[in-house]
Amino acid sequence: MTYTIGIDSSTTATKAVLVRADGEVAGVATSTYAAESPHPLWSEQHPDLWWQATQEAIRNLLDNTGANAADVAGVGLTGQMHGLVLLDAAGTPLRPAILWNDQRTAAECDEIRTIVGAERFIRITGNDALTGFTAPKLLWVRNQEPEIYARAAHVLLPKDYVRLRLTGTYATDRAGGGGTVLFDHKARTWSPAILDALEIPPAWMPPTFEGPEITGTITEEAATATGLRAGTPVVAGGGDQAATAVGTGAIDPGVLTVSLGTSGVVFAATTQPVIDPAGSVHAFPHAVPARWHLMGVTLAAAGSLAWLRDTAAPGTDFAALSAAAERVASGSDGLVFLPYLSGERTPHNDPLARGAFVGLTVRHEIGHLTRAVMEGVAFSLRDVLEVMLAVGVERPEQVRISGGGARSPLWRQIVADTLQAEVATVNTTEGAAFGAAMLAAVGTELVADAATAAKEWVRVVDSTRPAASSDDGYAVYRSLYPALRDAMHTLSNSE
Ligand code: XUL
Repeated sequence: MTYTIGIDSSTTATKAVLVRADGEVAGVATSTYAAESPHPLWSEQHPDLWWQATQEAIRNLLDNTGANAADVAGVGLTGQMHGLVLLDAAGTPLRPAILWNDQRTAAECDEIRTIVGAERFIRITGNDALTGFTAPKLLWVRNQEPEIYARAAHVLLPKDYVRLRLTGTYATDRAGGGGTVLFDHKARTWSPAILDALEIPPAWMPPTFEGPEITGTITEEAATATGLRAGTPVVAGGGDQAATAVGTGAIDPGVLTVSLGTSGVVFAATTQPVIDPAGSVHAFPHAVPARWHLMGVTLAAAGSLAWLRDTAAPGTDFAALSAAAERVASGSDGLVFLPYLSGERTPHNDPLARGAFVGLTVRHEIGHLTRAVMEGVAFSLRDVLEVMLAVGVERPEQVRISGGGARSPLWRQIVADTLQAEVATVNTTEGAAFGAAMLAAVGTELVADAATAAKEWVRVVDSTRPAASSDDGYAVYRSLYPALRDAMHTLSNSE
């Protein structure tokens, strides 16, 4: 049997998945770690955590499945996007990585808009400069830690640090590279104009590759550390959102993906480098050649439900909460939830946005609160879809849903009603790691291309059709952020 391995270095764990050449998952191993917040708004992780977890996950994967390393045709990498890994000339991390959910760089985002020009920046990179992205983090280190910046020689994304340790090569994929916002969106690689304007040395940036392209092979040292065979090819892979889309078969327009993880993501593949001129949805290359994507992120999706459970119903399991919510009618008896518990990215791009329940009365119980949270998160997904439709994305026929929240049939129904599309779950439930394994199968020619793999490996296993409309609730939801924005900002200053 021939296999590929996908490795996802996420914010909470590294997951390695072993996939057979026919797309069946043969095994999964996970090794967890924590993120640090040494100051308010900061989120950091030391790159060595990812490397330690990668070694452990691959070793356990091979041990648990009994797979022979000689049968692993290739490895694909994915991971959390946007993180800044700054290395010296010897490839040693100069400081902990600054992660995608770090919010310290508001001043640097303004600096970028001033230096490059806000509209020009969106025109070239496809995106506004947002606190989570990599470029402002690099400027932050330059501004705040000049002694570290002076020793910098390489910039990598989290999964590419794992690549460096596995293969000894500096490289990145195009989907993840786009997330640095130092890319020329159309050209799918570093923008000389942006690097020049921001005075970032081009030599610091690694060569870029399409997702299935081979970027290097496992070194002798990495083979000893992981149990893999030296010489095994490692493909570029993709940022976690693009890799998840590949793994659920969303490679062409018409199939939208929604992920209901801690954060919620709406992802639409495009055949052209479409952008939103206002920059309120992200636009990055896809992890497959000749495809791009638009993407919107709501920062607290299943995270909102976890917060509600932990705060209002500690110890209750999600199935019981979901059952209580099922007894409540659509609209939650006049209760609306704004899911901006961690600020919001799409469409408001407002780190100071705050969550709210609006319409509370004494009649509302935990079932109402739960249903309102599920509906509020679905409304925030619709906000993203509305921006996408406005810039020319075709209305989706099918939405492929994944993530922990997608296990709730009620939440899937609410999303179907809110987006007015069929919501499907697929057989491939290992997310980004599975997509990375699929890209490795393409790159090592186990399958002809990603579209073929998507057809042969991915099957719809459950489908939920819209049964009602939630337009009235959405209209109220949509009116609330503009009405409450000033109050949210005032309150965020007194936290
Ligand atoms: C995408 C994003 C997150 C991280 C989390 O833009 O910021 O999905 O990649 O892993």
